[in-house]
Amino acid sequence: MKIIHISAECYPVAKVGGLADVVGTLSRYQSREGHLVQVVIPCYETNFIKENEFETVFWSQVELGNFNFPFSVLKGVKNDLDFELYLIAIPELFDRAEIYGYKDDIERFLSFQKAFLDWLITVNDKPTIINCHDHHTALLPFMINYASKYVALKEVPTLLTVHNAIYQGQFGFDKLHYFPNYDLSKTDILQWNGCINSMAVGLRCARAITTVSPNYLNEINYSGNGMEMLFNQVRYKSKGILNGIDIEIWNPETDSKIAYNYTAENCEVGKSKNKQKLCKTFDLDPEKPLICFIGRLFPEKGADLLCEFSKKSLSEKDRELNILILGSGNRDIEEQLTDLVSEYNGNYNVYIGFSEELAHLIYAGSDFLLMPSRTESCGLNQMYAYRYGTIPIVRSTGGLKDTVVDLDEGGCGICFNQASVEDMIKAKNRALEFYKEEEKVITTRKSGMRLNHSWKKAYQEYLEMYNLIIK
Ligand code: GLC
Repeated sequence: MKIIHISAECYPVAKVGGLADVVGTLSRYQSREGHLVQVVIPCYETNFIKENEFETVFWSQVELGNFNFPFSVLKGVKNDLDFELYLIAIPELFDRAEIYGYKDDIERFLSFQKAFLDWLITVNDKPTIINCHDHHTALLPFMINYASKYVALKEVPTLLTVHNAIYQGQFGFDKLHYFPNYDLSKTDILQWNGCINSMAVGLRCARAITTVSPNYLNEINYSGNGMEMLFNQVRYKSKGILNGIDIEIWNPETDSKIAYNYTAENCEVGKSKNKQKLCKTFDLDPEKPLICFIGRLFPEKGADLLCEFSKKSLSEKDRELNILILGSGNRDIEEQLTDLVSEYNGNYNVYIGFSEELAHLIYAGSDFLLMPSRTESCGLNQMYAYRYGTIPIVRSTGGLKDTVVDLDEGGCGICFNQASVEDMIKAKNRALEFYKEEEKVITTRKSGMRLNHSWKKAYQEYLEMYNLIIK
């Protein structure tokens, strides 16, 4: 099979969140199983791109309304990736350090999708399948099905993977002239709530849909950010496939980013050494349990609750725990969290930014990982936590429900129901009580480390889905 993944992110080339990890790892597994896998993303100014070699394989201009943007397609040469990496370089739109967050994001990703197809129609060996990821690439199935210019691709099946239905790529019909010429009788397909909605278009036009966990698929049918009805309508062609994690990169036995390597057998020593290092780095108390948060600082992740949660948890004189936060995002949340550092010095710290390196050490050195997500399509951090013997404390939603079973039900995590400070405090209290039972803690850590979240199963399910729609 020749599989193309088209996405805004791919680890280790360009990463904001879990989307990158999934695209990078799924592609690697598929490639190792013998498929020809190509990943196509925009050419940003990331370190990986600056440090690696590329050759130009195609160049042209992409039309966007009255503008013409020169672009080229770059193919990765000599790198450690197991798959073929292609970058669409549109300098005027993507020569920037950040991946998202610009006011012309709609223009950027529309051009990216059109440039990709302009190139693909010139390639002899057409893909067996195009796997689109999230709204940034969700207009492709429409363009392939209905734009006259891309008729040569009409038979190529497309699958849309929904990683996050909160972001939908919505814009006004005043930008309709950015589209390639298409069968005008199909304009209705573009419309959702009076706007063009990329996610809705993808749901309607892709031959199949996957969400990144089975429970998330159930949830979006009644809580789908205003698109419940549409998710219901396309249910017949949808499947929830639980993400895996890269168990080679996330492996405490070989991880060079942590202070001391360990396995389930010696996790007691291993975790304690990593905790010492972590506590030293962040001026925390290694004698107290350590709860961490790693992730994007946005309300969808429950990050707005962290400030009050920390204040309430650390207000007592005899502070029972440490809290460490790694992430970036909403400026207000960043500031609130940073402001607490001086007050709770010695038991609380924050690292604003994104550091892959540090994330590894935090998983290795923490006792608990807190995920108070309001929505979580899958969530990978709880699986990384397990792998490093760190006990997840999660709000039961989306993929967290699929992956974290509460201690009381024989699982290795702590679950709570509401994304509220009250519920978080109760869960934290349970964690602190549990922490006192040393033997049980060790057994739980070991069981968590032995859970298997590799991509093996998910890889098969993707393949079945591809085969279904190829037929
Ligand atoms: C998005 C979701 C997250 C998921 C990831 C990978 O970042 O918010 O829950 O794990 O995509 O699919």
